[in-house]
Amino acid sequence: MVIQPQSLYERMGGAETVRKIVEAFYPIVQENPEIGPLFPEDIRPVQEKQYMFLTQFFGGPSLYSDEYGHPMMRARHLPFPITRERAEAWLGCMKQALEKIGMEEELKHTVLERLSGPAFHFVNS
Ligand code: HEM
Repeated sequence: MVIQPQSLYERMGGAETVRKIVEAFYPIVQENPEIGPLFPEDIRPVQEKQYMFLTQFFGGPSLYSDEYGHPMMRARHLPFPITRERAEAWLGCMKQALEKIGMEEELKHTVLERLSGPAFHFVNS
């Protein structure tokens, strides 16, 4: 029998937690002066795509790729001027969201660390 290591997705609490994260995250983003203005008023479609993306990013089912193909996330962010400050603001909003949903400290740290790679990789301006 092969014992699979538990994914971050499973450690976080799976679908229920990812749902809570995206629901907490976007209202915080919309209020953020640094990045809020980049997002459309109707945030629902973005929230749903992020739910699908983060699910697979953390090691859950490949919801995003099944629907939209290769994520190419850096390319998908090219239309938006992303500075280092904006990457920091995005991560700051995520930190607030994880605190809001009561994620345990060590797990929160791991999740933020995992997201900081892509966030700074998307800097294009
Ligand atoms: C670095 C700072 C970031 C900024 C300023 C930013 C901003 C944006 C904006 C403006 C959109 C498009 C909204 C629209 O559809 O009009 C978007 C889409 C998206 N972002 Fe980010 N983002 C950042 C980082 C990230 C990170 C770190 C992730 C995930 C690891 C991520 C995942 C996504 C996803 C999944 C979408 C939807 C893509 C699609 O259209 O299929 N973003 N982001």
